[in-house]
Amino acid sequence: MAFMTNAVIVCVTAVLVVYVPELWTKTRPIITGGTVQQGFEPVAKLFRENFETGVEYPTGGSAFSVYYKGSKVVDIWGGYADTEADRPWNEDTLTVVFSTTKGMAALCIAMMVDRGLLDYDKTVASYWPEFAQNGKENITVRMLINHQAGLANITDDDTLHLLGDQDALGEFLARHSPEWEPGTTLRYHAFSFGLYASQLLRRADPKHRTLGQFFKEEIAQPFGIDFHIGLPLELYHRFPRLKGASRYMWFKELITNPVFGKIMWQSLASGLSASLKPIQFEDYMSPERLILEQPSVSGVGTARAIAKVYGVLANGGTTTKGQRLLSNDVIKEIIAEKRTDKSFQKPTEFPITFSLGFVKSEYKESCSCRPLLFSFLFGCLLDSEVNPPHGSVYLLRQRNAFAIR
Ligand SMILES: *[C@@H]1O[C@H](CO)[C@@H](O)[C@H](O)[C@H]1NC(C)=O
Ligand SMILES: *[C@@H]1O[C@H](CO)[C@@H](O)[C@H](O)[C@H]1NC(C)=O
Repeated sequence: MAFMTNAVIVCVTAVLVVYVPELWTKTRPIITGGTVQQGFEPVAKLFRENFETGVEYPTGGSAFSVYYKGSKVVDIWGGYADTEADRPWNEDTLTVVFSTTKGMAALCIAMMVDRGLLDYDKTVASYWPEFAQNGKENITVRMLINHQAGLANITDDDTLHLLGDQDALGEFLARHSPEWEPGTTLRYHAFSFGLYASQLLRRADPKHRTLGQFFKEEIAQPFGIDFHIGLPLELYHRFPRLKGASRYMWFKELITNPVFGKIMWQSLASGLSASLKPIQFEDYMSPERLILEQPSVSGVGTARAIAKVYGVLANGGTTTKGQRLLSNDVIKEIIAEKRTDKSFQKPTEFPITFSLGFVKSEYKESCSCRPLLFSFLFGCLLDSEVNPPHGSVYLLRQRNAFAIR
């Protein structure tokens, strides 16, 4: 009986602590903007309803875009880029997309393969001889890009101070020892993925560009893609004020979303590895950090830009005007590839499947139960089974309760 009483007191206190401060939060009018093609009006309606019903943070901001059969059919945004300054989210608001950046990095590598400058089955060391240190001589490009190289244990803290010096960064990455026999296990290379991809690309590219420079010259400029790996400082005024999840949102998520509760519980029980600790959104707001190239996590762009890229890929790699981004052969190879990360299976109860740096949504339910969580975690979705082909992206400024890096 005493236990029950205590339990009730704990619950009531938790509710008071979490809900009551919400009553003082300033409410703001709901604003949404943008356009949809005829027939897609229900999408815009639902997007607005998300703000009205609190599925979206009432003080947050977000953007959603869809390319269908190569054309833009949905381009909408809403909420606030900065609630403290009462600055609404607008057409040009850019935000950091975290792991969605990995899909863009994987695309750069795929384009190098397409041009015959890289081969997925050659060793990384054949392009980058210093990489052959400490048992890494047999690691292939495929293993590296499929998160199988055993180099997952590098965190942002290890490399942040090196991001301004590509040579020093390359030396650091070349020295690192694999944690497991390369190729035998797959574990998400949360931070190191893009850093290795960039160093590899730099060595195979005749112009010796970094991945961010390659992206700018080969994708952003020719295809009109408003996405940046290394944000030019003069674009910083378009960046929103990022916010982590409030205690209220955590609590609400815990009691309303059984999958979330399960993930949290199992993660605590199993202990998250160093590279899977919750990311601090606010850390990614400083211009000093965003100007640096970190092609694993700190790409900055609009939903429209990313949707356009996936829209082109979903249509065989060529724009409606006949401009080729990637050959259909390489796209087919990416889609055919399937490597499963079992380390995610424990906390999430479903495996994550990688295909040459992209993520495949094998677990269909993930999309129906928590679309934001999954698109945000691994926004690099290329779904060959979605019919008809389209690229769609939902970006937001305020973190949902759970995000891992
Ligand atoms: C790399 O492959 C060669 C040839 O199969 C083998 O002799 C060597 O031990 C391998 N190196 C490592 C570090 O596994
Ligand atoms: C992984 O990183 C942690 C923290 O830096 C370190 O303690 C641990 O030894 C590393 N493990 C491996 C296998 O390198």
